[in-house]
Amino acid sequence: MTGYAKIVKVSGMSKKTVQHEGQVMEKLPVLPWSRPPRPFVKWAGGKSQLLKRLERHFPKNFWTYYEPFLGGGAVFFHLVERHPRFNVVLSDINKELITAYRVVKERVEDLVRKLGNYKAKYKLAPEKYYYEVRSQEPSGDVEKVARLIFLNKTCYNGLYRVNKEGKFNVPFGRYKNPKICDKENLRRVSQALRWSNAKLLAVDYQEATKIAREGDFIYFDPPYQPVSSTANFTSYTRSGFSIEDQEQLGRWFQELDKRGCQILLSNSDTREVLDIYDGYYIERVQALRAISCKGNRRKGHTELVISNFKS
Ligand SMILES: C[S@@+](CC[C@H](N)C(=O)[O-])C[C@H]1O[C@@H](n2cnc3c(N)ncnc32)[C@H](O)[C@@H]1O
Repeated sequence: MTGYAKIVKVSGMSKKTVQHEGQVMEKLPVLPWSRPPRPFVKWAGGKSQLLKRLERHFPKNFWTYYEPFLGGGAVFFHLVERHPRFNVVLSDINKELITAYRVVKERVEDLVRKLGNYKAKYKLAPEKYYYEVRSQEPSGDVEKVARLIFLNKTCYNGLYRVNKEGKFNVPFGRYKNPKICDKENLRRVSQALRWSNAKLLAVDYQEATKIAREGDFIYFDPPYQPVSSTANFTSYTRSGFSIEDQEQLGRWFQELDKRGCQILLSNSDTREVLDIYDGYYIERVQALRAISCKGNRRKGHTELVISNFKS
């Protein structure tokens, strides 16, 4: 099986190349991983739960794929499993997160070594070591990323969130055997990022998609509009994401729609979101979200999947 369904002979192609969506590329004898890569950080608003619902809306063909609210990147990993090679632009406003993707892409073996050290020290005195690492402010990129992954795997609730001052202040989480150094997955992620030649940008969503054009596929997963005044899912970064930001995103959605981009967006099921995307295809889907710190107390609720094309 090759990574591509159709192999077309065109001039300029050798036996080792295939044509894929108009481009001549190196032929892949088999999909390059035996097990697919998975998100390497657990992120607030992660989309793993919604993938089956989202998948039905993915376009059949596209040129470049943009994921400008990347977080844990669940949709990218889902796509790359099926198409190991396509043009990809992955971005998020969170610089630490994008540095993490860059380090995994380019320096995965250094990172694995560093995480191996963390794992060994954590085993000796988990709580004490957790707070020691939390208080550190390393300067090198590999060290910064190892710290981020370590804290993500060992903190309370397993989510990397910074406070208003940009500090990570989540307390220690009690886990029996946290997967601090999942080297096989990190290597697969690294391979996926390199095979797809992913462009990684720490920029605002508008900047990231400003050159998107007809035929490109964009998946927007912004911080959700809170469903009630008490729900606060907006504090992903120092700045948060206000209702004015949601409206601005809605206007940008319209602009990209006019260019002929294929756009998919998820958000909470609220009056405000329904108004912003009035006139587009809107599906209400059932989703699960952990609403309390106890993983078993999950409550079903609905979310919106919005697109500008019929699937
Ligand atoms: C709902 S999360 C994305 C979750 C992701 N789809 C996943 O599966 O983990 C929203 C992301 O948007 C990012 N973000 C917030 N404001 C942004 C902006 N103006 N431009 C780009 N990214 C932004 C946050 O840093 C956060 O990672």
